Amino acid sequence: MNITQDIKYIGVTDYEIDLFEGQYPVPNGMAYNSYVILDEKIAVIDTVDARFCATWFENLETVLSGKSPDYLIVQHMEPDHSGSIKAFCEKYPKTIVVANQKAFNMVKNFFGTDLSDRQIAVGENDTLNLGKHTLTFITAPMVHWPEVTMTYDSFDKVLFSADAFGKFGAFDYDEDWLNEARRYYIGIVGKYGVQVNAVLKKAANLEIEKICALHGPVLSGDLTPYLNAYTKWANYEAEETGVLIAYTSIYGNTKKAVQLLAGELSKKGIKNEVFDLARCDIFEAVSKAFKYDKVVFATTTYNADIFPPMRTFIEYLTARNFQNRKIAFLENGSWGPMATKVMKSLLQDSKNLTICENNITILSGVNEQNKSVITALANELSK
Ligand code: FEO
Repeated sequence: MNITQDIKYIGVTDYEIDLFEGQYPVPNGMAYNSYVILDEKIAVIDTVDARFCATWFENLETVLSGKSPDYLIVQHMEPDHSGSIKAFCEKYPKTIVVANQKAFNMVKNFFGTDLSDRQIAVGENDTLNLGKHTLTFITAPMVHWPEVTMTYDSFDKVLFSADAFGKFGAFDYDEDWLNEARRYYIGIVGKYGVQVNAVLKKAANLEIEKICALHGPVLSGDLTPYLNAYTKWANYEAEETGVLIAYTSIYGNTKKAVQLLAGELSKKGIKNEVFDLARCDIFEAVSKAFKYDKVVFATTTYNADIFPPMRTFIEYLTARNFQNRKIAFLENGSWGPMATKVMKSLLQDSKNLTICENNITILSGVNEQNKSVITALANELSK
């Protein structure tokens, strides 16, 4: 597939995988993207997961039409992209591998050799001339590993962005970019907003017409929505006014309270989404906590603590620097409610959280007094 006249797509889609990185559900598969730039010199950009090496080689050979690649550019050493480096180097023994020094250290850790007889180590703003195409390397540490390097092709104005701007799903899976790009970004690099901002600043100086990420579709046309989404996520700003209600319920009473709250919000025209943390994809719920400006945490007291999926949910949020939100608590505890106290303590280091005044304590079943506080909380959340 042509990205431009000279840039070809040779990636693969993994429909076998159930959990990406061992934890994120990917019901629509996962693309491992790889590209070839055909010029006087030929460069391959990244490999693919080792399980798909044979298919990738077929794609590569089709594009090469009997030629040999001059360079393999390694932007990222996570195995979803680096898994076929060793096989590639065996198949093409004259190809030079281009990467930064941290990546070569990782090559040695993964494959037992740092390819010292065939490597070019590159750093910030170093260039590689292919003929018409000059590639400039842009370091992007912690987006998503420390060795990550992006590659800018000034001839076609293409940014090869490594993991950044990727998403879950097959390469050609036809859906909105935003939802699955958010779930991917928050899950995988949500913790590293400072580092993402640093790369966005570098990208702002480039004239970019296309973004070729290592996952998901090639982005082209008006790139503003993608850049705006990344800017918001990197700064932990909400995308929308709305309420995520994340809950657990053992016998349905906490769920009933949540449904009353959601109903009140909807009546007021306040967008809200409700997630049962014991049953949903918890990473979808985590990503929605970063989408909306308000979050309600609703759970039961359990072993003088909170119900485990809620603890996991909050720990996933705090591990990703959850901050800058208005939040409320709804707890249930038949003889000794503890959940709100525990949830507050789990969130105590999160920056700039505003706790609502109307928090709810249910002692088993929802009573009339609970209902009036639910109404008051809905009013508060709608302001
Ligand atoms: Fe797609 Fe960080 O690997």
